Amino acid sequence: MGKNLLNTKDLTVQEIDEIMSRAQYFHENKDNLSITQICKNKFVTNFFLEPSTRTRFSFEIAEKRLGCKVINFQSNDSSIKKGESLYDTLKTLEAQGIDVAVIRLCEENVLGYLSQKLSLTIINAGEGKQEHPTQALLDLYTMKKYYNEMKGLNIALIGDIAHSRVARSNYNLLKKYGVNFIFSGPRELMVEDFEGTYMSVDEAIKQADIVMMLRIQFERQKYKYISSKEEYNKVYGFTEERLKILQPHTIILHPAPVNRGVEMDDCIIEHKQSKIFEQINNGVWIRMAIIEKAIRGH
Ligand code: CP
Repeated sequence: MGKNLLNTKDLTVQEIDEIMSRAQYFHENKDNLSITQICKNKFVTNFFLEPSTRTRFSFEIAEKRLGCKVINFQSNDSSIKKGESLYDTLKTLEAQGIDVAVIRLCEENVLGYLSQKLSLTIINAGEGKQEHPTQALLDLYTMKKYYNEMKGLNIALIGDIAHSRVARSNYNLLKKYGVNFIFSGPRELMVEDFEGTYMSVDEAIKQADIVMMLRIQFERQKYKYISSKEEYNKVYGFTEERLKILQPHTIILHPAPVNRGVEMDDCIIEHKQSKIFEQINNGVWIRMAIIEKAIRGH
């Protein structure tokens, strides 16, 4: 990964396994006070230019658990409002002594460029529809709680894959573990360069060991792919009716936020086979492992 975390494609299996085991350590030792000394006096900024609840809060919690000094960047109160570029803004924070910037933005192909020009460490917290590496890492951590061996598992990605940075980061990460990919959802929202098998939602749910439902990203769609939310729910949603075809060992994931009643019915979200809130909890331990790695490499 080098010192930055920009995507999952460039991570080696050894690096991923180290992140998993460090996250496990933080998970099991959450009350160990010595952990609050690990990143003592290191400065981290959460630099979010796009809305977030889970990612922003879990990074802040992770940073504070490690003892970092945390500064949440407020773009509306910054000189970005006066036209200062992203590069000049981050160069300024770097000059002031910020060690790590956790960045979310709607543009793509920006973080790689910035990482070459800046010496502060950059962690991608969601870059347009390109990548969301820490989400995929916390998804893998959650999967590994239920499956010792990833090779040969059937993983169904269902929904708006085309606009999903979570799908791309998961695809690039899970490919390294030899899983079988199943894709489902509206044909126009599939990605041509992903290797796997396209199936109806019923067949995908039936065959999957892991069902990963994806949010319809209304905010990223240039065209109207969906006639109505009710129609989408009926044809592509994980409905109560579809619980009948779910295998008893299969786990259900969703990166959230969820469009309730669109890609998922209410009763699925808190169903015993749904691990959505475990994913959210696991985000803290994974992000602690990432922040620690970033600080150590700095
Ligand atoms: N899953 C995820 O990235 O959620 P937020 O947009 O709330 O951070």
